[in-house]
Parts: sequence; C-alpha cells; structure tokens
Amino acid sequence: MKRDFRELLNPALRNIGVYKVEGGQEAEVKLNKNESPFDLPLWLKEQILEEFRDEPWNRYPDILPYRGMEAYASFLGIPTDSVIMSNGSNEMLYTIFMACLGAGRKALIPQPSFSLYEKIALLLQAEVVTVPMRPGLEFDVDAIIAAAAREKVDFIVLSTPNNPTGKSLSHGEVERILEAADAIVLIDEAYIEFSKEQSAIDLIARYPNLIVLRTMSKALALAGMRIGFAMSNPALMGEITKPKIPFASGRLAEITLIRVLQNYSLVNEAVSYILAERARLSGALLDIDGVHLFESDTNFLIIRVDNAMKVFSGLKEKGVLVRNVSGYPLMENCLRFNVGLREENDRLLELLAES
Ligand SMILES: Cc1ncc(COP(=O)(O)O)c(C=O)c1O
Repeated sequence: MKRDFRELLNPALRNIGVYKVEGGQEAEVKLNKNESPFDLPLWLKEQILEEFRDEPWNRYPDILPYRGMEAYASFLGIPTDSVIMSNGSNEMLYTIFMACLGAGRKALIPQPSFSLYEKIALLLQAEVVTVPMRPGLEFDVDAIIAAAAREKVDFIVLSTPNNPTGKSLSHGEVERILEAADAIVLIDEAYIEFSKEQSAIDLIARYPNLIVLRTMSKALALAGMRIGFAMSNPALMGEITKPKIPFASGRLAEITLIRVLQNYSLVNEAVSYILAERARLSGALLDIDGVHLFESDTNFLIIRVDNAMKVFSGLKEKGVLVRNVSGYPLMENCLRFNVGLREENDRLLELLAES
C-alpha cells in the first residue's frame, strides 16, 4: 500500500497555508495592497518598451541582473558588491531565509509583522520566537533584545516601518539591536521612503551581520514589475547569494528600474503627494466618531472600528477595497488602507463617516 501523497510532502506544509489577500484584485477604489496610486507616465513606459524591444528575447538575461544592481548601488552611493537584485523583495526574503535558517535554527519575529516572514521560517522548519508589539503597536526594543539573548536566536527580522502596524524603529534603536544581537539582523525597509526615520543602509559598513531589504513596489510604484534589493557587506552578500534562483529577474525589470532611477523626481513628487494626503486623511479620520487612528510612518493607515468585518464589507459593497487586518495579534477590529488619490481618499472618508 502506497502512502497518501500528503505524507510524501515537506511536513512543514501542515503548518502553513496558501498566501491570499481577501477581496480580490478588482475594485473601483483599491487601497488594500499598499500600492502606489500612480502608474508610470506613458512617455516613460514607451521609452522602456522601446529599449526592451531591442533585447534578444531568445537569450537568457544575466544570471544576476548586474546592470540593475550597478544602477541601484550607484543611486545609493555604495559599492556594487554590497547589492543584489531580486524578483520582488519576496524572492529575496526566501533567499535570505534559506541562507540563514533551517531545522534547529531560531528566528525572532516581532508580532504583528509581515506574514510572509513566519511562513518562510516555518517552511524551513526553523523555530519562530515571537515578541509582541506594545499595546499602541510600537516596537518593544528592550523585549526584542532580551528575547534574542535569552532564546539565542540566529536570525532577527524587523520590518521598519512595519507592515501591518505602520510603526518604525529609530536609527538609534536599530543600532542598539545590532550592538546587542549575536544574530543576522534583516531590516526590511519596504516603506522607508515614507518614513521620518533614517535608513539603516549606512550601518552595513559597520555591522557584518546586517542585511537591509528594499522593494520597488511601494514608493517607486513598480509592484507589477517585481523588483527588490538586498544590501549587506560584500562578505555576507557572497553567502546570501548562494541560494538565489538563477536568472530570476528579466531584462524588462532591469530596464524599468534604470529608467525610473533616472527619473527619480517622479518618485519624489509621488511621495510628497502621498505624505500630504496621509496628513489630510489622518486629520479627517480623527474627527470621525467610532474611528480610532494609529499614527503611521508609511503609505498606509491603520484604524480601529467597532466592527471591522461590517465596515470592511460595507466599504467593499460600495466599491472601496481595504484590508481587514483584525486577525493579527493586537489588531482586533483594525482595518488597513493605503493612501490613494485625493478623490479616492475622499470617497473612503465619506463612507467611513456614514458607517
Ligand atoms: C514589509 C514588506 N516586505 C516585503 C514586501 C514584498 O514586496 P515585493 O515582493 O512586492 O517587493 C511587502 C509587501 O507588501 C511588505 O509589506
């Protein structure tokens, strides 16, 4: 008698689910994935497509997208061998976790944080040590340092600013954790362009155990192009490159990245717009009865309402898609939505005021 196919699979699959986002992809006002509301202008898309047309489509791209890596390293002002590009930062998360974790290893993950971290750690059969955020959703730095030492963790992953809470660690707090930790520390800066805090990239020259992760899916408005980056000192980079999927980034992504970096004023303008709208939305939300707003350092906001499921469904019925994040620890009855275009934000405010 042969075994059931489930018994033949990685036993870790029993502890994880399929990644899904409630509500689907289509909505009149789509605010559920922390995307940018600004697509690239047509003239820039046309430049990119023209360049891509001349590429040999029958040939593999480079094993690693060296041209994209050179462009981003020079944009950041750091050496090229400190930078690696991936097919979205999600791909880089898998690569880094594979390089750092496995059975018998321990990963520290604050809770709540980006759900993919725990999923990949469990997939790799690592042990997950969770450290709760404070009741106001801020990081508990002392608890992180204490748990890392007590549990002798091998790996610490910190999303700062953090998805889904919108809270950040200061540069000084990141440095305190790096000073204390006997572990690889991954700082995921997916939302850094919206933050009042300084990036940790300057610290990679001083801390051989630091990796900084970036995505081009948020402020750079390239979620559909799948571009992410990791930065570390070259010695650590040599190691985390080993599990990387070869040829994972296509030339279209590289060309797009280079063109967007050449036209970075578009990104700066979009970030200024989003920050101004974030301030306006925050002010208006404070005036709505039954809505509690958490201050945010990102392109999205978190509110607590009396009945998140009811508000989520009511908004969805009227064509406004937000994310119900009530299932996360400490986030009962919370909703998350990214800042959209002015008129989209007005529509959301109008519906929340009525609900
Ligand atoms: C904290 C964080 N890290 C990484 C990602 C993944 O981004 P991508 O794979 O699009 O680069 C996200 C996306 O929402 C995120 O919130």
